[in-house]
Amino acid sequence: MENQKPDKDRIEAGFKAIRRAMVLIQLLLVAMVIIPLYLYSVPKWDAYQKRLKERERIAAEMQKEAELKNSYDALWKAPDLDSTNVSAEEWQKLKYGMELIVNTAYYLGPKGKVKAITNGMNCQNCHLEGGSKQWGNNYGAVASTYPKYRARSGTVEDLTKRVNDCMKRSLNGKALEESSKEMIAIKAYISFLGAQVNKGEKPAGSGIFELPLPEKALDTTGGRIVYLEKCASCHQQNGQGVKAEDGIAYTYPPLWGPHSYNQGAGLFRMSRFAGYVRYNMPQGASYLHPQISDAEAWNLAGFVNSQPRPNADISGDWPKLEEKPFDHPFGPYADSFTESQHKYGPYKPIKEFYKKSKK
Ligand code: HEC
Ligand code: HEC
Repeated sequence: MENQKPDKDRIEAGFKAIRRAMVLIQLLLVAMVIIPLYLYSVPKWDAYQKRLKERERIAAEMQKEAELKNSYDALWKAPDLDSTNVSAEEWQKLKYGMELIVNTAYYLGPKGKVKAITNGMNCQNCHLEGGSKQWGNNYGAVASTYPKYRARSGTVEDLTKRVNDCMKRSLNGKALEESSKEMIAIKAYISFLGAQVNKGEKPAGSGIFELPLPEKALDTTGGRIVYLEKCASCHQQNGQGVKAEDGIAYTYPPLWGPHSYNQGAGLFRMSRFAGYVRYNMPQGASYLHPQISDAEAWNLAGFVNSQPRPNADISGDWPKLEEKPFDHPFGPYADSFTESQHKYGPYKPIKEFYKKSKK
């Protein structure tokens, strides 16, 4: 009986040790499961999160693309001449008008078979796809808006005057007679293109895209770098373009120099140039697939429109000074900004000035 107590103690101590060992084993087992599970699942979770983000990004991109596509689908579209139901005589006239816009140089260029009155460029060089391309300086809003008051002349202009403006400025040439077969055909074709548009309306996609104004002055050095990288391969380092083999029209039209548009032309204004190239150049670019940014387009305008080109007598332009566009590079002005600021910006202070003075 004396020995019983220590025995019990010993047995109890044994059980305790076993229990402790069991707890340890349990903990070990749990650890053996949890640690690998943890090591395995953390990277999985991270990857899952990453995939989730990627999926969200793709969805957002698709959404954006769909929106772009929708906005593109809503743009003005030119009617198709070939499926148009008009008399044979009318059709011939329209076809000739289109031909004159597409291949101007063959009829009216320095070696033109009708008359030699232009610099060798085609209307289509700037009015892309025969004046039908969305945001490609097309003629969508011409029939609906002419005759109209134009601040450049300070008068109401009809289509003859407007076509001859491009003849004299963009093609650095001479005017076509109002009664000539050529003027009649050109006007007929341009009017046909916009015939579906309601009077007074300027549908989205017509003309040139209005780019947001840059904050700072244009960077012509930056423009030169982009030019060499993205434009010179076709328009050449010296900007003179490349003539076609027949020596009549241009495969790549000139961007400056004696055969380019003159200083009175629309493209000589930075906003017109930048808006034109943003969605059309390099060749193949479009509203859906642009190849240059807003900033690049503006800086390219700054660079190209700093190069030499033919003068024009524009002394009669913008008779009302307060109607001069912000980016018209020649004074006098109804404001105190310099010619240089009007040409290269920053433009916002100029816009701001006129907004205030109108109030
Ligand atoms: C060097 C480029 C260039 C060439 C070449 C050119 N144009 Fe233009 N044309 C322009 C620009 C720029 C505008 C002004 C667009 C604007 O202000 O949004 C314009 C405007 C016009 C407009 C008025 C469009 C409107 O919506 O108000 C007509 C019409 C026109 N041109 C006809 C012609 C014809 C016809 C020819 C060929 C004989 C021709 N252009 C050649 C650059 C050119
Ligand atoms: C792959 C050749 C190619 C490249 C690169 C290219 N262009 Fe053009 N560019 C053309 C062609 C061709 C035309 C005339 C389009 C037509 O007649 O259909 C044109 C027309 C123009 C015009 C109007 C006509 C003129 O001569 O004034 C301007 C302005 C212009 N390009 C600027 C640029 C700028 C800026 C770049 C660089 C971002 C550029 N281009 C890159 C082929 C090219």
